[in-house]
Amino acid sequence: MLQITQSDFETALRRCAREVEAELDAILTAIPQSGEIERPEKLLAAMRHGVLNGGKRLRPFLVLESSALFGAKRGAALRVAAALECIHCYSLVHDDLPAMDDDDLRRGQPTVHKAFDEATAILAGDSLLTLAFDIIADPATELPEDARLKLILALSRAAGIGGMAGGQALDLAAEQDAPDEAGIIRLQAMKTGALIRFGCEAGAIAGKASNADRERMAEFGSAIGLAFQLADDLLDLTSDAQTMGKATGKDQQAGKATLASLHGSDWARAQLRGLVKQAEDLLAPYGEAGNLLRAAARFVAERSS
Ligand code: IPE
Ligand code: IPE
Ligand code: MG
Ligand code: MG
Ligand code: MG
Repeated sequence: MLQITQSDFETALRRCAREVEAELDAILTAIPQSGEIERPEKLLAAMRHGVLNGGKRLRPFLVLESSALFGAKRGAALRVAAALECIHCYSLVHDDLPAMDDDDLRRGQPTVHKAFDEATAILAGDSLLTLAFDIIADPATELPEDARLKLILALSRAAGIGGMAGGQALDLAAEQDAPDEAGIIRLQAMKTGALIRFGCEAGAIAGKASNADRERMAEFGSAIGLAFQLADDLLDLTSDAQTMGKATGKDQQAGKATLASLHGSDWARAQLRGLVKQAEDLLAPYGEAGNLLRAAARFVAERSS
């Protein structure tokens, strides 16, 4: 089977970043859309700051590659990818607020509440969350209506109380509650896993794949989602702000137990290898067509920022 090198993967990831950023740049225009009255200048600038500020664009990549696997058109997939990135960026804008992690640095730049103000950062997050559903519902996302509706439902479930937002609530509570290992895995599957899982499932939905394929992709997403947060927690322990573009040592400072702090770095690295293997095995039925997604699984576990 043709091997994908890490450099092939990084080239594909950069291409995805360029394309999705062009899409987001066009969507975050000052021109009001039909049904809108005005787009306030400062709020738009804050949204743009929170979105067009770098970022690995891994979630959009997962949408594009899972879409390619199931034959969904790249143009439509790019819009779904942009929608998912809007939700991810909103989650970061709110995660950094003083009431949450209270961070000043994100993607190597001042966080939105530092560059603007807290109220504007809250509203920028609100507007990005709403915009995500606008993007998918818009007929400009050229997919059949039933596929768009299924995507909206799956993204709502991934982002809301039983997904990312609920996971963030459990994560904040974990600073006091000290959950056990199963509790940590569960909250991470929600706060981080759910959006990553949606990214992997999205292509199966957009490409009208079978339920079995959709479930397989969701399972792949769950495995790399867990690996993603495990790597983030490991990097929080072992890396620095210069490399990461965000503060490190935060979890310890907040008294937050993570799997990496509970079991140590060696355990975390071994666990990451196991999750990558599990994820790669899930893609076996797709043969070479799954190579870039397999490389994405390795990237998630081995990344250094
Ligand atoms: C950071 O996500 C938040 C977590 C879920 C750990 P990323 O590491 O994907 O952040 P960007 O988008 O590349 O900045
Ligand atoms: C945040 O987890 C996950 C989100 C839903 C935003 P973290 O709080 O660990 O993310 P970073 O380390 O600030 O990026
Ligand atoms: Mg947090
Ligand atoms: Mg944080
Ligand atoms: Mg973190």
